[in-house]
Amino acid sequence: MAEYLYQTRLAKWILEKRRRTRVNHILSEIDVWPRMNILDVGCGPNGRSFESYALEDCTITGIDILSPQDVKMEHPRFRYFQQDARDLSRFPSKSFDLAISIGMMEHICDRSVLEQIADEMIRVSRQWIIGVPWRYCCLEPHFKFPFFQFLPGSWQLALTRRLNLHNLGSTVQDDASWIKNHYQWLPGREWKSIFRADKARVSLLAGDLLVIGSDQRCPHGNLVNCPEAPCCNAAQSEQSSDRAKGKEKVLVAVPKRSRKDDLLYEDVG
Ligand SMILES: C[S@@+](CC[C@H](N)C(=O)[O-])C[C@H]1O[C@@H](n2cnc3c(N)ncnc32)[C@H](O)[C@@H]1O
Repeated sequence: MAEYLYQTRLAKWILEKRRRTRVNHILSEIDVWPRMNILDVGCGPNGRSFESYALEDCTITGIDILSPQDVKMEHPRFRYFQQDARDLSRFPSKSFDLAISIGMMEHICDRSVLEQIADEMIRVSRQWIIGVPWRYCCLEPHFKFPFFQFLPGSWQLALTRRLNLHNLGSTVQDDASWIKNHYQWLPGREWKSIFRADKARVSLLAGDLLVIGSDQRCPHGNLVNCPEAPCCNAAQSEQSSDRAKGKEKVLVAVPKRSRKDDLLYEDVG
């Protein structure tokens, strides 16, 4: 029933709007500048979470375990590598301005694998951000059942079998541990600790939990973009001119759309 409702035009329109809002929210939470070099970890086949809404002037490298024939992205500057996210050694350290992963981490239930992927994302990028379902969301987004994540395992199984939730009825019939092995709903502090609590913060948007981290620090040791740190704005201006030197273009700070004291960089070079 829920799967059927999600196929209606109204539901598709709402989902589309929600994805667009999520990408806008993500961009408002990080430092953004022209021609960013972005890594999308677990990009999936069709860019419906990020590439379809991302800025056209950025370059996006997608990695996934899918075969290249199955990945069809419309973004004009997209390239794809079939690659397990545990090993990003083909990319040098800090070679991306942003590493992003949407809707993948909640499926990696082996903690050591999760930590390997987090370490690699942090190694190759200056900023990183992941989006996972919020543990306390009312409607679990995969199974589309209220508070599914809090039900005992046996109830989750019975409901999935009986109502064919997420079209997984026959899958869980054959493998009773499928849900336990493929879905997890960790609290924000755990996600933060996996993605380096000292450098990360969390942000909520509707049913999504975003974990955002950055290596960029102001002279006082605070994270750039840290809402608690008034010194960060000054630091961002300094860093923008440093970055400008490296990229041979001039960047200036301009007021950011959504948060009063934050800055966004604009290319005037
Ligand atoms: C639910 S999909 C999300 C896809 C896309 N980010 C989106 O939001 O539409 C999760 C993706 O992660 C990929 N994935 C799972 N484990 C992976 C791994 N170890 N390395 C790279 N990709 C992986 C899967 O193949 C799948 O395409």
